Order: sequence, then structure tokens, then C-alpha cells
Amino acid sequence: LASHLDKIKESVRKLRAYSLKPDRGAIKINQNENPFGTPERIKREVLARMTQRSWERYPDFIPTVVREKLASFCDWTPEGIVVGNGSNELIQSLLMVSITEGRRVLISEPTFALYRQVATVLGGEIKSIPLKEDLTYDIDELLSAVETFRPDVTIICSPNNPTGCVIEDQDLSRLLDATTGLVAIDEAYYEFRQASAKSLIARYPNLVVFRTFSKAMALAGLRVGYLIAVPEIATEVSKSVLPYNLNLMSQIAAEVTLEMYTEELLPLVDMIIKERDLLYESLKAITGLEPLKSSGNFMVVRSSISPKRVYDELLNRDILIRDVSGYPMLQDYFRVSVGTPSENASLISALKEIFSETSGRIQ
Ligand SMILES: Cc1ncc(COP(=O)(O)O)c(C=O)c1O
Repeated sequence: LASHLDKIKESVRKLRAYSLKPDRGAIKINQNENPFGTPERIKREVLARMTQRSWERYPDFIPTVVREKLASFCDWTPEGIVVGNGSNELIQSLLMVSITEGRRVLISEPTFALYRQVATVLGGEIKSIPLKEDLTYDIDELLSAVETFRPDVTIICSPNNPTGCVIEDQDLSRLLDATTGLVAIDEAYYEFRQASAKSLIARYPNLVVFRTFSKAMALAGLRVGYLIAVPEIATEVSKSVLPYNLNLMSQIAAEVTLEMYTEELLPLVDMIIKERDLLYESLKAITGLEPLKSSGNFMVVRSSISPKRVYDELLNRDILIRDVSGYPMLQDYFRVSVGTPSENASLISALKEIFSETSGRIQ
């Protein structure tokens, strides 16, 4: 190995770079974003406020106003909230203040790839409990891993990207009762589940909840996420967050989004939930496809044709999905985000075409 790489940690060199294919499609259902786009009223108000502010000055050291608005939005104390440049940044920050060489991280896979990646970079020892065959959380195995592996941090994604499964409060409580470590719940998609583990923080001060503005809040391009925890934990995590992490425009956009959430975004969330259920039924009706019920704004679909081929065929028709067949247990699956009604109709008609053309042929 070239000597200029000698000082890079071995665990990092072994890690495969986290990447996303740069393909583009007119119908973009590969990243679980809000398909309806940022509401015009929100955009216009953000731009109006931007013209009134000083771009040449640093933004707030920490986004105080956003934090206060989030506190009332979540019915929580501002001291227990940390705002990040996307929730990714906060996941990294939590692991940075808790994981060093030899510390233990418990996850369940397949899940969002970032947990393993960041924990590995930090030198953590990772134990991964496979999902059950039905692609839901294996609570018994997680509980026994808590006993034997004694994790410093347990990270659970709920609803889980990519399978859409959740951890119920009573199961999460059992995990929290059993562990002395921190438990992080990634709730990037909680709006589509219409439930949250947040209220458990009052009983379990070792529980940390992550959320994002990138999905239901339709703000992925501006990178805003937040963490909810007891103030003592929030204070410690803040020590690894860079000052001025949230730029002026992102701060303003987050404020406006919170002010207009009920009027502008909640109806879209409701529509996405309805569309998800319709999409599930339509996918199920196609021979060769088996969608999995999901609590997120996406679902994985088991396919009798190789997911790679489905991906290519859809891309030819200007539809961009996510091939998740490289994830453990998901060799036969692709993932779609719930789109607008017309996007979902286009997806279904494209899939009907693809699956009727190939039915009867040997794969
Ligand atoms: C489970 C999960 N957590 C976090 C994120 C990233 O969120 P953010 O854009 O806030 O960094 C995603 C985005 O795909 C996700 O699926």
C-alpha cells in the first residue's frame, strides 16, 4: 500500500465509500424526499426574510430561534434540542462524543448505512442483529445482544430505512430497561408513522431522538436536522457540533417551515400516507412483485426480475428508484419512495409494462 495512506486508519481503508449513483430521472423516487416540493408560500417567505438580513455577517453561533421554535413544536425544553446541518451531522456528533476505539455499537441491519460507517470511522466495535425474516425488528435478539454485548450505544431507525418497520414503545422500553448505554432512535420518517418515541425521554434520560427537515418538511436541499434529548445529553453532544453549523438561509427556512407546518405541510403528509397505501395495493396487484408494508414514505418491493434490471428498465422510462439489492437480506428488492399521485401512476404503468413483457420468459 502506498505510504501516503499509512496513517489512514485501517478500519477506514477497509470501508466501502458511501455513495449514491448520480443517475437522474424526471420522476425521482430514490431518496424519500417530499414529492410535492417545498410549498410556494414557504419559499416566498424565506426569500423575503433573506433580503432583510445581513448576509455578510455570521449567522447565530447556535440557531437559537430555530431551537426555540422546535421546542414549542415538540413540546420540549430548548435546552434539550440540538439543531444540525442535517440529522446526519447530529448522528455523527452523538457518536463522536460517545464512541472511541473499542466502544460498542449495536445496530440492526438492513438499515441506514451511516450508523455503521460513522461508528467504524470512530473505531467502534459493531454488532449487528439481522432483521427477522419478515424484515421487522428482532426484539428478542436485540435484548439478548444488550445483555451479552453490553453496547455503549444502540441505534435503531424507526421507521426503518429501507424496510419501513418500526420499534413499538413497549419494545423500546424493554431495551431501555435492559441497557446502561445510550439508545438513539432515528425518526427521520416519524411524520409518516404519526407516532414518536419522544415521550419516553422523560422516563429514560439515556434516550436520544433524531429528526430531520429533509423528508416530510420538504427541505432536504437546505440541510436541517435536530436532536431531542435531556438537556445534559444535548449539552454534551453540542460540544462536537461546529459553531455556525446552520447557515442563515437554512435557519430562516427552518423557522418559516415550523411556522407554516400545519397549514402547508401536514396536508401533504396526509396525502403521502394515503398514496402509500394505494401504491402498496397497486404494486401487490402486479404479478412478480411483492411490496412490504411500510410506516415511512417509501417501501421495499420484492421482485421476480433482478432489481438491477428493474432499475435500468425504469431509468429508461425516466423513473429513478433505489436498487437496495446490495443490502443484507434484500438481494431481491428495490425501494421506491411514495411520489405524487401522477408519479405513482406512471411508476405502476411502467412496472406493469416491464413485468408483462418479461412474464413467461426465463430470467
Ligand atoms: C434514516 C435516515 N436518517 C437520516 C437521514 C438523513 O437525513 P438528513 O438529510 O437530515 O441528514 C436519512 C436520509 O435518507 C435517513 O433515511
